[in-house]
Amino acid sequence: MIPQNDCFLRALKREHTDFTPLWLMRQAGRYLPEYCRTRAQAGSFMGLAQNPDYATEVTLQPIDRYGLDAAILFSDILTVPDAMDLGLSFVQGEGPVFAHPVQSEEAVEKLYVPDPEEKLGYVMAAVRSIRSALNNRVPLIGFSGSPFTLACYMIEGRGSRDFRTAKTMMFRRPDLFERVLDINADAVAAYLNAQIAAGAQAVQIFDTWGGMLADGDFQRFSLTATKKVVDRLTRTTPDGEKVPVIVFTKGGGEWLADCAAMGCDALGLDWTTNLSRARKVVGDRVALQGNMDPLVLFADEDTIRREARKVLDAFGPVGAGGHVFNLGHGINQFTPVESVQILVDEVHQYSRRYHTA
Ligand code: CP3
Repeated sequence: MIPQNDCFLRALKREHTDFTPLWLMRQAGRYLPEYCRTRAQAGSFMGLAQNPDYATEVTLQPIDRYGLDAAILFSDILTVPDAMDLGLSFVQGEGPVFAHPVQSEEAVEKLYVPDPEEKLGYVMAAVRSIRSALNNRVPLIGFSGSPFTLACYMIEGRGSRDFRTAKTMMFRRPDLFERVLDINADAVAAYLNAQIAAGAQAVQIFDTWGGMLADGDFQRFSLTATKKVVDRLTRTTPDGEKVPVIVFTKGGGEWLADCAAMGCDALGLDWTTNLSRARKVVGDRVALQGNMDPLVLFADEDTIRREARKVLDAFGPVGAGGHVFNLGHGINQFTPVESVQILVDEVHQYSRRYHTA
C-alpha cells in the first residue's frame, strides 16, 4: 500500500514531489524526553529494542512530535552480530561491547549466517507492529550495518577511534577478513529481505566506518561486500511496490562515482561533501540524501534556517533528480528538541521553490 505521505519514497525514486522530504538518522533517541522515559521503563537499550511494543512506541515518537516524512525501525546495527552469538551488551558510558570478539582463525570459522526469523524474530515482530501503528501515515525504513562496518565491531569487540584490531586482521590476514565480510554479506541480505517481507518499505545500509579506509581498500573491503548485499535484495514489497535502497558511507565523498554504480537507488552523504558537486558526479543516476552538520542544531534559530537553506540551495532545482534531506550523521543526544521542529518547518517550506513541475 502506498503511504498517505509518499514524498520520501517518491524522492528516492526520483519522481516529482511538492517539497523535499526529511527524516533524521537516529531520530528516535536520547535527545527526546519521551524516549528517555520509555527507555527508563524498559530498563536498557536492548530491553527496548527486543520488545516490539516499546520499539513501536519509540519509533513513532519523533513522527508524532515533528511530522517527519519517514519512520525508521527502532533497533541497532549490532543485532546481527549479536544473533551470531557474539554476546552484545551496552555498557553505560562505554557503548557496545561484545563478549566474544572474532579475533582468531577459529573464531572466524565458527561464524555463521543467522536465520533472521529464528534469531531476529523480535525485529520482524517490531516491523509488523510499527507498520500497523503507523497506519500508512509515512513509510517505514528498515536498516542494517554494512558488512564492513559490522566486521569492524565484531573483530574489535567494541567501538574504537581507529579499529586497530580489525584493521590489523584486514592487513595481515585479508583472507580471514574477507571470509568475515562474505558471511556478513549473506547475513545482512537475509536480514534486510526478512525486514522487507515483514513490511519495511525502503532500506538503508549504514557504512559508518567505510570512510576510514584508503582509496582501493574501500572498494576492496567495503564496497564489494555492500554491493553483494544490494545485488541480493528483494527490491519489491509483498504487494509489489518498489523498495528503494539507500547506502550511507560516512566519509565516502571521494567514492561517489563508484558507489553510484553499485545498483542502489540513493547515496547518503555526510556534511563534508558539497551536494551540488556530488550531483555533478552522480548525474542524477541516484537520489542523494543529506547532509547538514548535526551540530548546526545547537545554533540559534536564524542559523538553523540559514544552514538548512544552504543544503537545499546546494542541491538546487530538483528536476529529474531526487533529494531527501537528512543530517550528515546521527542526531546528537544533547540536541535541543525545539531545534528539530525549526529544521522540519524550514525544509518543508523553503524547498517548495525547487519542486516546480
Ligand atoms: O535512527 C533511528 O532512530 C533508529 C535506531 C538506530 C539506533 N542505532 C538506535 C540506538 C539506528 C539506525 C542505529 C544505527 C547504528 N548503531 C549505527 C550506524 C549509524 C551511526 O550512528 O553511525 C552504529 C554505528 C550503531 C552502533 C551503536 N549503537 C553505538 C556505537 C551505540 C552507542 C553509542 C551511543 O550513541 O550511545 C549504540 C546504541 C544506540 N543505538 C542508541 C540508540 C538510540 C543509544 C542507546 C541508549 O538509548 O542507551
